[in-house]
Amino acid sequence: MAIPKAELHIHIEGTLEPELAFHLADRNGITLPHTDVHALRDAYSFTDLQSFLNLYYELMDVLRTEADFHDLAEAYLTRAAAQGVRHAEIFFDPQAHTGRGVSLDTVINGLASALDTSLERHNISTSLILCFLRDRPATEAMDTLMAARPHLERISAVGLDSAEVGNPPEKFTEVFAAAAELGLRRVAHAGEEGPASYIWQALNLLGAERIDHGIRCLEDPELVSHLAATQVPLTVCPFSNVRLRAVATLADHPLPALMEAGLLVTVNSDDPSYFGGYVHDNYRGLQEHLGLDTEQLRTLARNSFTASFLPPERRRALL
Ligand code: ADE
Ligand code: ZN
Repeated sequence: MAIPKAELHIHIEGTLEPELAFHLADRNGITLPHTDVHALRDAYSFTDLQSFLNLYYELMDVLRTEADFHDLAEAYLTRAAAQGVRHAEIFFDPQAHTGRGVSLDTVINGLASALDTSLERHNISTSLILCFLRDRPATEAMDTLMAARPHLERISAVGLDSAEVGNPPEKFTEVFAAAAELGLRRVAHAGEEGPASYIWQALNLLGAERIDHGIRCLEDPELVSHLAATQVPLTVCPFSNVRLRAVATLADHPLPALMEAGLLVTVNSDDPSYFGGYVHDNYRGLQEHLGLDTEQLRTLARNSFTASFLPPERRRALL
């Protein structure tokens, strides 16, 4: 039985398994540029973040209708339940859909129709985190935030993702301030491929309450001390870091160093369909390749609830 945990860094579009991609392509009359499921899986060999993002955005073309977004989320929740997930804060990338003619209502209503029954069907509480694509203009992010206003009761936070290097957090200062005004929490990918200075910017300019990835904080001792003192959580994704070559092998992953430095570290799957495993598979990988013991895994699971945006009653029930 997988240890109960929260998942705080999961891109719903990154849970699209090849089998479901082909099924949705058929349903929508789309021909994928891959001969079959095996050929598609064979394409999952990445050299860096951008090489992954190219395929990630290409495959999203199969997501067209509310039913498609429903089926995507339902498939994730089914797998997550089997991995011990009891709470999930789920990223989605509206601009990746509206930019190809799929409306925001279609995306959110489709996802919500699965999330609405998640507690009864899977014993998983959920919320959505609306991510801005950092390689698109800040004005487009602001338009997306404004368009999302009718859906805010389903959205707990805003996030920042996509190609990091060359797209520093400072570009989104105004958008994150507007999100805070609307009562949304704030998180941001920083220090995945980008430098430690991007983590400082996410904290100081965006008001980020969690840093997604953040592993490059280790290059700045002052930043490590700051993260330890403030207990701003990191949502670390070990399989992702290896598959996107931010880290050479799992045995070289800096997660133990982050824990030893006193940081509030959590373990997450990022884009599990593409990176070889869901969240509990990541926990197991850490056990096997880094020798983490049961007590350390329990600490990581406890951290995942502590770092969540859960209301206090549900957090107490889960801790
Ligand atoms: N979008 C989906 N996965 C991502 C990642 N690991 N980093 C940045 N943007 C992403
Ligand atoms: Zn991510």
